[in-house]
Amino acid sequence: MSEQRKVVTILFADVVGSTEIASQRDPEVVRSMMSRYFMRVGEISAAYGGTVEKFAGDAAMVVFGVPVVHDDDPERAVRAALEIRDGGAELQVRVGVNTGEAVTAAADDRQFMVSGDAVNVAARLQQGAEAGEVLVGSLTHQLTRNAIEYEARAPVAAKGKTEPLVAHRALRPRSEVPVQMRGIPGLHAALVGRNRELRLLLDTFARVAEDRRPHLFTIVGAAGIGKSRLVSEALTGLADSGARVLRGRCLPYGRGITYWPLIEMLRQDTGTGLADEREGALAKLDRWLGELLSDDPQRPAVRARLAVMLGLETAEAIMPDTPAERVEREIGWAVRHYIEAVAHSAPLIVVVDDVQWAEPPIVALIEQLADRVADVPVLIICMARPEFLELRGGWSAGKANATTITLDPLDPLETSTLVSRLLEIEALPEDLRRQIVERSAGTPLFCEEFIHMLIDEGLVVRDGASWRAAATIDQIRVPQGINAVLAARLDLLPEEERSVLQSASVIGERFGLHEVDSLVGGDVESRLDSLRRKGLVSGGDSAGEEFRFRHLLIHDAAYGSLPKAGRATLHDRFRSVLEREARDPQQVTEILAHHAERAFALSHELGLEVEIVHERALKAVEWLFATADRARTRHDTATMDSTLHSIRTTAAELPAGGEPAIRARLRLLEAQLLVMRADYRGASEAAAEAAALAESAGLLSTVAAARLAAAWIWNFSGTGIVTEFE
Ligand SMILES: Nc1ncnc2c1ncn2[C@@H]1O[C@H](COP(=O)(O)OP(=O)(O)O)[C@@H](O)[C@H]1O
Ligand SMILES: [Mg+2]
Repeated sequence: MSEQRKVVTILFADVVGSTEIASQRDPEVVRSMMSRYFMRVGEISAAYGGTVEKFAGDAAMVVFGVPVVHDDDPERAVRAALEIRDGGAELQVRVGVNTGEAVTAAADDRQFMVSGDAVNVAARLQQGAEAGEVLVGSLTHQLTRNAIEYEARAPVAAKGKTEPLVAHRALRPRSEVPVQMRGIPGLHAALVGRNRELRLLLDTFARVAEDRRPHLFTIVGAAGIGKSRLVSEALTGLADSGARVLRGRCLPYGRGITYWPLIEMLRQDTGTGLADEREGALAKLDRWLGELLSDDPQRPAVRARLAVMLGLETAEAIMPDTPAERVEREIGWAVRHYIEAVAHSAPLIVVVDDVQWAEPPIVALIEQLADRVADVPVLIICMARPEFLELRGGWSAGKANATTITLDPLDPLETSTLVSRLLEIEALPEDLRRQIVERSAGTPLFCEEFIHMLIDEGLVVRDGASWRAAATIDQIRVPQGINAVLAARLDLLPEEERSVLQSASVIGERFGLHEVDSLVGGDVESRLDSLRRKGLVSGGDSAGEEFRFRHLLIHDAAYGSLPKAGRATLHDRFRSVLEREARDPQQVTEILAHHAERAFALSHELGLEVEIVHERALKAVEWLFATADRARTRHDTATMDSTLHSIRTTAAELPAGGEPAIRARLRLLEAQLLVMRADYRGASEAAAEAAALAESAGLLSTVAAARLAAAWIWNFSGTGIVTEFE
């Protein structure tokens, strides 16, 4: 008999009042009731991957974690417990579930013996449960509270000399489908280290909530070091605090919209999706503001500014009395007002990821949130790569309510612990372990990816409950650095899977099955399934749900592995798919412009045929103009600026620097941008030039627009026309 120590989850279920039942009914009836019950317990347990260890009297003991460990054993056990509870109406049960270390002994394939304190605790929880109650121990609770809804309850009274047991009452699963039952390898280790950082974050939240004041908490660290993980651990720890969480992320430079992170948060809050038409989105905004600011006199003003930010209204139409250069500040004011209102009733956590890519208005807004939001509990958590602090040396400086921490690499001991947790393996050669620890430079993502790679290569194989190293594992070369590991993993993929991953990377960090399907042939769905099993992508769990790269670095590696000619073709193809299939292409101009611009720039760089380059340049210019126009309506000057820059570079490759029509429209947009920056002199010059260019090209509507702009500038600022008549 081989003995092993491992973490298992034990379930005890017992029928309530079975002796009474037995004394009141016909023994035969009782026997068939009990056997139906035992059969159900057996079926439910098997469905969730548990093993029935024994039926003792009318109590059943089920073990999750033998012979095979799943990293979601606790969740499986609690789900099984709830199903047993809700089962047959004829019998009431009490159930106890507990997770802990136990000694397991396997006599042969089918027989297990599990013993240890974890088992005793599970039994005591079951004995302390009321009829129809599922009680779980503290570790089970901690590991499953994201997946299961719990209720507090009094500890289970002591028996004999032992202390009362902390117990939680499981109510129901939070979702139909278990999070991880899909055969994704169990490569998610319990958190290693980071105790101090986690405590600091939790303490900061406690202060924010108690003192009712804002705090800006910034976590800086390289990609893959564990920023998102730290935040998600903290949020898990705060799951019962009643705090609300709003999340948004900044996109890489030039990928679209300055206000993106805020737009994401608002969409989340109002329940609006990309698919909503303008009217639908406005209606949702109104309904939601009606609740949030029910008798706030500022509601109309907040609504107008948020609608402009969301691109649902233009500033000219809805706030005509506000000078253009003030719109940005006004939007900031409205966002603050909204955040204050949300945080008024419950503590609010605002999470902003990839702040190193935030445009200046977002940076200013976050700082103002921390400075000016008064008397409400708001914790703002920003995550950024190290270049952020180089870019913005003054970030959070001189603020009493700001904390910035750097997430250092894990130290060698921690890294080694992480490797052990990721891979329960005894025969991992010491030299290999040393190399992983050394070459990972303390980056957890490296360890995860490298171990995935060992599995992909068949150098580490699953052997029942644990992993075994193949004899040839000594020959593996450990790449240097995370990018090298990712490149090596991509190399190992079968050609069809790699091409699915590469095509997806052109679409972006998130992508839909249907979108990838439009770019590559073959059975995309099963390839994505395989990529998900390998931990390269995640999501796509329900029909229509987006997929995403499991980490931005995986996306970047896949994109980087694609030859430039391939990238150019795919960007161009995806642009035309979107043009054809988007419900309203005008709602996704930023995305169209990105793909058109990439297709052009890559073709140009590769020196493709001049006709192709020109054709792609014209497409790019078209969508860049549409993007600049949209940015203008939301008074997003940063996006206007970068988009105009792209138009100039692209048009420069067209014969004679683009037609006069392009130059006229460009000049007009420049005039409008200068107005927003209150440079009226520059603006009026640009408007006059735009009018002249348009006139020579015979573009009457552009002439009119330019004249109108010039007149408006003069009327508004007293500058302009004068110079024209001099
Ligand atoms: N301290 C840690 N212990 C265990 N796993 C970790 C730890 N830090 C990060 N990881 C894992 O490493 C991977 C990369 O971490 P992530 O938080 O996404 O990095 P970042 O957000 O800094 O780019 C994730 O899969 C995460 O779960
Ligand atoms: Mg992250």
